[in-house]
Amino acid sequence: MNKKVHVGIVGATGAVGATLLTILKERRFPIASLRCIASARSQGKRIMFDGREIEVEDLASASFKGIDIAFFSAGAERSKVYAPKAAGEGAVVIDNSSAFRMDPAVPLVVPEVNPHAAYAHKGIIANPNCSTIQMVVALKPLYDAAGIVRIVVSSYQSVSGAGAKAVYQLEQEIKGLAAHFHEGAWQIDTDIEELLGKIYEANKSETVFPYPICSNLIPHIGSFQGEDDYTQEELKMVYETKKIMEDDSIQVSATCVRVPVFWAHSETVNIQTRKPLAADRARAILAQAPGVELVDTPKDRVYPLPLFAGGRDPVYVGRIRRDPSIQNGLNLWVVADNLRKGAALNAIQIAELLLKR
Ligand SMILES: NC(=O)c1ccc[n+]([C@@H]2O[C@H](COP(=O)([O-])OP(=O)(O)OC[C@H]3O[C@@H](n4cnc5c(N)ncnc54)[C@H](OP(=O)(O)O)[C@@H]3O)[C@@H](O)[C@H]2O)c1
Repeated sequence: MNKKVHVGIVGATGAVGATLLTILKERRFPIASLRCIASARSQGKRIMFDGREIEVEDLASASFKGIDIAFFSAGAERSKVYAPKAAGEGAVVIDNSSAFRMDPAVPLVVPEVNPHAAYAHKGIIANPNCSTIQMVVALKPLYDAAGIVRIVVSSYQSVSGAGAKAVYQLEQEIKGLAAHFHEGAWQIDTDIEELLGKIYEANKSETVFPYPICSNLIPHIGSFQGEDDYTQEELKMVYETKKIMEDDSIQVSATCVRVPVFWAHSETVNIQTRKPLAADRARAILAQAPGVELVDTPKDRVYPLPLFAGGRDPVYVGRIRRDPSIQNGLNLWVVADNLRKGAALNAIQIAELLLKR
């Protein structure tokens, strides 16, 4: 890549924005200039990048003239208003929000799966939902080998998937709970539900989840939709998978759960392939697959874990095994860093695709 580009990051003060800055530097993205943009709350704050201080601008008054690539990660409402403005002023927008993902005129791209789609953009390219990205990276090579009829996925999604405030919520709850553990005792000296409820109430203005997340699992990500009461996150997995894989016939059933893990999402993925696909063959295919790291020697207790996936780029796949309860059934365990491959890294890889052209 010889050409240097002028880059803007909208949402630069957030969890995805910070990860974008880290990865741009790690990958030596060819930056001619960098602008950091967020809300009026952050205007004037300074962000360090590559030894330089960059002053944060207010999105409401920022101009996008002169920016070649604008990474948006400030929520769907901001993207709906300002991404078309940025594209109109000449930037190519790579949008991390859900605002344009299902717009037929906007490509939804995972570089390992449908890179060609990126080139059809009209100024905006959508970055898919984090849980969908890691699943399709793992499944596309199997789809190419044997076809996929149906996917049943359950997600175990880390708190960082809900942004910086959500990480803080879990931190506060863990600290509050820790004070009630005493050496040598396996019980805590208080009612855990009441204690976490009090911490939750005390921090309510800063909380993100509808319940305490420490020592808990919340089967509710995004609002409930339609008469079947699937959540937005679950429906994103259904519709985005079909769009990225370019196959509307794939049936997807998703259950998305928030878990008290800080970084990296995990998924159990059950697939029914069109043609038979032995577990060994699936392993051999995934061992060669772009973006995937096979971690699958269970007898040695080697399988993907969110603790190790956090801060790393690959989509880790393991626990690959036949599902004897259906014809052509396979089970997989898929883990990836939601802020990296699930957001910032995928967005930067899209930008790199554009630069290659
Ligand atoms: N977290 C993930 O794993 C993940 C994965 C895929 C996609 N995404 C998407 O990426 C986006 C950002 O997520 P996040 O996790 O980084 O959230 P976050 O940590 O809460 O950060 C939100 C960012 O948006 C900015 N923002 C909020 N309101 C704004 C406004 N009115 N005008 C301008 N900027 C505003 C914030 O700026 P201030 O600091 O000034 O408030 C901050 O920089 C969301 O659309 C999310 O759905 C997140």
